[in-house]
Amino acid sequence: MGSKKSDSIRARDEKVVSPSLTRELPVVFERGSGCDVWDADGKKYLDFTACVAVNSVGHSNNEVRKAISKQLSKGIHCAFSDFYAEVPVRFCERLLEQMPEGFGKVFLSNSGTESTEAAYKLARWHTDKTWVVAFEGAFHGRTMGSLSMTKSRPVQRDRYGPFLPVVHTPFPYAYKLKMEPEECSQYCLSALEDKMRALRDDLAAVFMEPIQGESGYVVPPASFVKGVRKLCDDYGALLCMDEVQSGCWRTGKFLAEENFGVKADIVWLSKALAGGMPIGATVASNEIMDWPPGSHANTFGGNLVSCAAGIAALDFMEKKRLGENAQKVGSHIMRMLSEMDSDAVCEIRGMGLMIGIEMKDRKARDWLIHSACHKGLLLLPAGEAVFRICPPLILTKKQADLGLEIIKDCLKNI
Ligand SMILES: Cc1ncc(COP(=O)(O)O)c(C=O)c1O
Repeated sequence: MGSKKSDSIRARDEKVVSPSLTRELPVVFERGSGCDVWDADGKKYLDFTACVAVNSVGHSNNEVRKAISKQLSKGIHCAFSDFYAEVPVRFCERLLEQMPEGFGKVFLSNSGTESTEAAYKLARWHTDKTWVVAFEGAFHGRTMGSLSMTKSRPVQRDRYGPFLPVVHTPFPYAYKLKMEPEECSQYCLSALEDKMRALRDDLAAVFMEPIQGESGYVVPPASFVKGVRKLCDDYGALLCMDEVQSGCWRTGKFLAEENFGVKADIVWLSKALAGGMPIGATVASNEIMDWPPGSHANTFGGNLVSCAAGIAALDFMEKKRLGENAQKVGSHIMRMLSEMDSDAVCEIRGMGLMIGIEMKDRKARDWLIHSACHKGLLLLPAGEAVFRICPPLILTKKQADLGLEIIKDCLKNI
């Protein structure tokens, strides 16, 4: 930070890159390996962000790199919407092996928002209905269909309306709504049912994140997630679960929804799915994914290199039992954080290695993140006053302790 090479890259960035991006930290990425990142001036950081929950198998994972190199020598792009190829088929098969029973078909894309769009269009196609209910605080992406359901920060929606036919209803963010979790769950279920009742003749689906990500790693009570499933059954709406950030073992299970004992009708994943390569996958049963040829497709979905990386990443995650590691190291981190006993910390919540720390205010949060960065630890903000811990899932207890020491030190000086 503050040194010549990084300064000069940031200055060049400012000249040519769209100002719509939000850079929270001044770090200029040069290279990464495992849980470590080096900036353009050679400073080393421990990465508690996995570059936004993407590098779950670690930066520059060897198995993923090998798979990419092998695929590069055979072909990069095959126009999977127009021609057949085995690698994307194998990726879909491999993904379905990890999914709960009943899912049978995969639509491939390149990002989180595209996989949300596919889920949205599929829900509308399959039900032939118009309306969707989504949640306050939701983040499903920024293209117009996804953005119609996103309601995380006002700046993301300002001036972009009119939106698609979506209504929003409260999510059980008990801390923010100043309620006890179960009371909050009942309150939100009742508000949801009111919306569903009003739209029942033309309601396609309910869209939700099992754990809200961008709004602050908000973990709902299990009664709420189960209640949403029941309401969808009662009102004949599809339950559509956005596992873009929470999926791929981050919470201990392959899908976060499995922690709540719930199975959605349409599920989509992205971020960690291909070890850092762009990919998105929208998954449903054979019965639900019944749209006809031409009703949805894209150019790059099924990209050979992304799919080869995806197979390697899924293999690695399973072989190395990254779900178990997420649970073990995640509960260690939660325990150590709760023992820090700082006045600046209001709530610690999470599952596996998806941990949110609610600070007393935004200023304290921002100060902590910058101070940790200065000391060599990368953290990201979420929501109003939360910082998140979402490291690569290969993080060891020893590495976790190194990061926790830095957090402890920052909290002492806040
Ligand atoms: C839950 C969730 N859905 C969708 C998205 C959008 O993904 P992308 O930025 O790849 O479009 C994100 C991104 O943070 C996300 O966290």
